[in-house]
Amino acid sequence: MSTATIQDLRPGLEGVVAATTRLSAIDGERGELLIGGIPVEELAPHASFEEAVHLLWHGELPDRASLDGFRRRLSTQRHLPEGALDLLARAARAGASPMAALGLALGLVRLETSHQPGEWNAETAQRLVAAIPPLVAAYGRVRAGQDPIVPPDGASHAAAFLWALEGREPAPERVRALDTYLVTVIDHGMNASTFAARVIASTHSDLVSAAIGALGALDGPLHGGAPGPALDMVFEIGTIERAEPELRRRLEAGERLMGFGHRVYKTRDPRAEVLSAAAERLARSGEAKELNDLARAVEAVALRLLAELKPGRRLYTNVEFYTALVLHGVGLRQELFTPLFAASRMAGWMAHCREQLAEGRLLRPSSVYVGPRKGWVALEERA
Ligand code: ACO
Repeated sequence: MSTATIQDLRPGLEGVVAATTRLSAIDGERGELLIGGIPVEELAPHASFEEAVHLLWHGELPDRASLDGFRRRLSTQRHLPEGALDLLARAARAGASPMAALGLALGLVRLETSHQPGEWNAETAQRLVAAIPPLVAAYGRVRAGQDPIVPPDGASHAAAFLWALEGREPAPERVRALDTYLVTVIDHGMNASTFAARVIASTHSDLVSAAIGALGALDGPLHGGAPGPALDMVFEIGTIERAEPELRRRLEAGERLMGFGHRVYKTRDPRAEVLSAAAERLARSGEAKELNDLARAVEAVALRLLAELKPGRRLYTNVEFYTALVLHGVGLRQELFTPLFAASRMAGWMAHCREQLAEGRLLRPSSVYVGPRKGWVALEERA
């Protein structure tokens, strides 16, 4: 029988410390984030995704030889799992979202990799990271009735994704913006999807199962599913004059503004700063600049209204608001925003699984029973 009491309850596990980590550190009051010990605003504008993965997995930035070797290994593992095309075609016929299709197809990686319970497998972790760009790009093409494209050997994670999606070499500034995004979101403490991955790893289940569980958690609009709706909101508002009445209407109707609020940050999310700068670099003129200017005006009105209508809740811009602008600026359709998040966070999930396995303790919190006590009633005696 559980001995936990209602006083022990921490709804949403808020404030509960479940693990130690060397991967990322968050100061929610000061708005600071360290990834592998380096402030996100120093790392993200400069590092490639591969350098950030090396930092997380090996605890240090790679030298030239290590980086080249790691790039090569990821590049050779960047192919579709056997049978993926048939599965993706079936998912397309069923109208599955890219996240749903990704979850299905990633399961195929389990057929290619070996699993020793309780052991972290670097090959499987690399394969999972490497498999996402070709799967997401191939699904985009299959849904459009096009054949998949294989990017050239040696292309970076970011470039290979754009190349496989579009069939041509992407411009360097788009690759840089995508790398900045991928590095910015690679890891973030004990967020919901990472916790899901760690719970699964803690049972000594395999890394592919941990990845798919985490993918499901990421897909929800309160977590990684927010940038698409955030961009929709900006488009629906349409002009700066409409921002105040439209946002006020939404808040008074009890709606949440996507891209605002955070469980940990009680000030502006530092990742929003990094991505806001990246979005601005991408959109220097024309329609893109107009959208950026509108988004910034919407953000200012939203912050004012959240302070007015939700006083004391300390709701500020989170990473997802500017994720939407950066990925839209890179030229991606909204449905690819969350899969791209997964393409990065997979590296963080895998690093957390490794830490969890090293910790070696099954994650198993308690619950407080609040139902009644009853006796057994035979079927024929039930009313
Ligand atoms: N818009 C309006 N009100 C909000 C918002 C928002 N975006 N976020 C929180 N609130 C309000 C809640 O309604 C609640 O109000 P109440 O006290 O009147 O009931 C109060 O602020 C506290 O909200 P909680 O739900 O307790 O906050 P929690 O820490 O659980 O939620 C979350 C964090 C889920 C991110 C929330 O802020 C939210 O729903 N934001 C919108 C979705 C979003 O942007 N998600 C992406 C998060 S970043 C990421 O996961 C990568």
